[in-house]
Order: sequence, then structure tokens, then C-alpha cells
Amino acid sequence: MSATAPRADTRGDNARPTAYGNYIGGEWVPAASGKTLENRNPADTSDLIGTFAESGPEDAEKAVAAAREAFPRWRALPAPKRGEILYRAAEILVRRKEEFSRDMTREMGKVLPETRGDVQEAIDMTYYMAGEGRRQFGQTTPSELKDKFQMSVRMPVGIAGLITPWNFPMAIPSWKMMPALIVGNTVVIKPASDTPLSVVNLVRALDEAGLPKGVVNMVTGGGTRVGAPLMGHKDVHIVSFTGSTEVGRKVSEACAPAFKHCHLEMGGKNIIMVMDDARLDLAVDGAIWGGFGTTGQRCTAASRVAVHKKVYRQFVNRFVERAKALKVGNGLADASAEMGPCVNESQRATVEKYVKVGRDEGATLLAGGHRLDQGPYAKGWFHEATLFGDVDPGMRIAREEIFGPVVSVIPVDSLDQAIEVGNSVDYGLSASIYTQDINSAFRAMRDMYTGIFYVNAPTIGAETHLPFGGTKNTGNGHREACVQALEVFSEWKSIYVDYSGHLQRAQIDTEGSESL
Ligand code: UN1
Repeated sequence: MSATAPRADTRGDNARPTAYGNYIGGEWVPAASGKTLENRNPADTSDLIGTFAESGPEDAEKAVAAAREAFPRWRALPAPKRGEILYRAAEILVRRKEEFSRDMTREMGKVLPETRGDVQEAIDMTYYMAGEGRRQFGQTTPSELKDKFQMSVRMPVGIAGLITPWNFPMAIPSWKMMPALIVGNTVVIKPASDTPLSVVNLVRALDEAGLPKGVVNMVTGGGTRVGAPLMGHKDVHIVSFTGSTEVGRKVSEACAPAFKHCHLEMGGKNIIMVMDDARLDLAVDGAIWGGFGTTGQRCTAASRVAVHKKVYRQFVNRFVERAKALKVGNGLADASAEMGPCVNESQRATVEKYVKVGRDEGATLLAGGHRLDQGPYAKGWFHEATLFGDVDPGMRIAREEIFGPVVSVIPVDSLDQAIEVGNSVDYGLSASIYTQDINSAFRAMRDMYTGIFYVNAPTIGAETHLPFGGTKNTGNGHREACVQALEVFSEWKSIYVDYSGHLQRAQIDTEGSESL
């Protein structure tokens, strides 16, 4: 069989699903083995979106070779010119936003307003990094010696291996790819097997924008057969991974022997703290959106809500009412759907496992708690929006990342206790407080040990022009987005230019050079 370049006319045709190949050296090619993977709609598994290359180490090898070959010319292209290509790609994403959003709802399940937001994040990041083509500021500092000039400049690391998740199928690939490209790296990306089409669409936009062949390469397939050879490859110089903490640790270990640069963005167990002076209507709105947006499948999801005991009952009553009223559905078939399915069978099984854990631990099930598999739900991986109350912060449902529509409500006595509970988990991505008291807001802002903090807003919704990432088991000290993303994909070079015409010995001659 042969892989076709994606053709819009056959996409969506169940009788003849499009075979999407790998994108290597600017060509769409099948896996060396000829094997393929099916991509099905998680809201309706009878809907076959297409087949994708089920690649192996030999495909990863070819992609790295293509990236290696393209690197010297891409690196030599002036950064503003690289930026122009990114700018054109952003324009293409704008033009095709609706089509790409629909593709994404179809393969990932989150509802259309959310997939439009995902494509928009990719657009924002692409424009942002296009602008960095004319910045990438370094430093100039005065020298301690006469007639000497000094500055620092960025240089690309080399070949970037990107391993991306399914929950933000276009946004997160763009967060990694665009900063890598603007600094002059070439790229091999392995998308999540649940959502390869969104990366195909991103790659198509770059291709159409005139990105030279081999600068971005995409290889679809599993973590063991594609991801592992990629991160272990001697010619891959930087690996950027978003996914679970468990896999992140393996990525880190695979990169360690060669001191390979490694950027990890991993789990979260984020908290919303609702104080006794909070506007409860606002807090409930935030907890619903933060907890159940993207079916709870965000690393920023508000999976814990700590509520002051003085307002606990009031808050919980409203929260339960709203959770029960949430319309679950197929985002393409039902425009009123507010929450889509889990991404796949195993993700829903994890949700069910944690519902059982919560019950067994003695938490009070307040809403949901069951899979949805009848009528319009029969062919998808749907699950009810689920709320547990009276949760003890030590319970597993309050400590472990579930990555599904399950929220734990924890009663607290004070702001201090809320902060203590908030910081008691192994993760440190995002946190938020609902209060009308500026002093409480500032204390929480100072004391929560997380990479992101919100006041009177939920834990989700980070923008592309502030650093994104977290502390503890959430990350390894790097940040994505904003100019901080450039750090991940560059090395600094400090340059000294002596134009005195004679030998000046730094740290030795300084005294002498003071005589005018
Ligand atoms: C993620 O959950 O993996 O801040 C990313 C947010 C989104 C990105 C989430 N902009 O919720």
C-alpha cells in the first residue's frame, strides 16, 4: 500500500478512509513495515476517521536523517525569514480554523468551542514565535577591559524530538514546534496515537506556507516503537515531552546518559480554593469549567476544590446542581453538548477505577459516578460529570491525577488550611482562589508553590504569552510558551571581541588597564 498526501475530498468518507502517511523530508510516505493504525471518533467508534502509519524505529531513523540534512540550511536562514514562514502558516491556520477544529472534535472528542480554542492557541503561538524571528534578544554588556565588546546570542540546539499528547492535539505541538523552528532547530514530531490528524493538519499548514523539506518531520506510531528510538537517538539533541509523570520519568532517564536536553511537562492535581467571602456564583462557574472542561482531561484541570466550611453546603448544593445539568454529548452531532467523551476506552476505565477508589475510601458521591453507554452514548467513551464531597486531602482521589471528569470537594477551616492542602500534593501546575479580599488573594498568590496561579478564575485557560509549566512532579524546571520557550530550544553563546590591537589578559590585566 502507499500513503497518500492527505486529501480533503476523501477525509470523512467511511467507505474509503484516507491513509495518512508519515511526513519525512517533505514527502508523505507509509511506514516501512506498511502497517497502519486506525483513528476512530471517541464519541462514535463506528466512525473511522482514517488510517495512520504504524511506524517503527526504521521510520524514526529516516525522519532524524531528514532533519539532520535540513538543519544546516535552516539554521543559516535569517531568523526573520524563518519568522515569515511561520507567519504564513499562522494565516493558513486562521483560514482553515473551522475545518481543523471539526477534525479535532472528531478525533479527540472535546466539543467544538473547545477545539476552536485549541486551534486558536496554535495560531497565537505561531504568530508569537513568528515575531520572535525579529527579536530573540541577547545581551550586550560593557567589558572590564578597554576596546573590547561583548554580547550573547542564541544558537539552535540541533534536532528537536517532540512527543506530544492527545488532550491539546494542535496547541501543544505548536507550543513546541514553533519556538524550536524560530531558533533554527529542525524537528521530528511523534503525535499521540489518539490524535494524529491534528498534527497532520499543522504540518500541512507549514508545508503550504513553504517550510523547506526536512525541517519538520512527523512519524506516527507508539511510544515504544517510535518515541523511544527518537529520544535515544544520538542525533536528537533536545527532547520535549508532554504527558504523564510516569512516562516523563522514562524520558528523563533515556536522555540522561548523553546529557541530552530534556523538557518535561507532566501531571497536575490543581486546586480551586473557595473562601467564605467568595462570590459563590462565580466560584461555581469556575469550578464547573475548570473541572469538566475538556472532560477533565487537562493537566490544568481543577480536580480539587477546597471550600471554606462556612459556605461549604451552599457551594456544594449549587455545584451539584450544575454538574448534574451538564449536557454530555457528541460535539459534532449535538451542538448543545457541553462535555464530550473520554478520549478512549482505557481513559474511561481509569475514570471508573477512581470512582470506585473514591467510594471505597469513604468519600460522598454527590453527582455522576457512572459511564454513559445507552442511546446516543452507546458507541462512545462517555462518562457522567462526577463529584465527590467530604473528601479528605489524604485520599487517593485527592492526590492522584485522574485525567477525567471527577472532582473532589474538600472542606477547609481557613485560608491557611486551604493553602496547606493545595500544596500537599506531588504536583505543582496551577491553583486558584476565589475571594473578594485582596489580602487573602495576595497571600495565596505568594504561598502556593505552583507555576500558574489565578485569582477569581479557574485553574485552566493559560495564554500563550506567559510562561507555562509547573513545579515538583509537574516539570523539570523549564517553561513552555512566551520567551521562556526559546530557552528550551537554544544554547547561549557568549562572544567577546577585542579591538585593542594588543593582548589584553582578562582577570589579570584589569589593574593596569585602569591607568588612563
Ligand atoms: C494541558 O492541560 O495540557 O491553560 C494544557 C490551559 C490551556 C492549556 C492546557 N491553555 O488550560
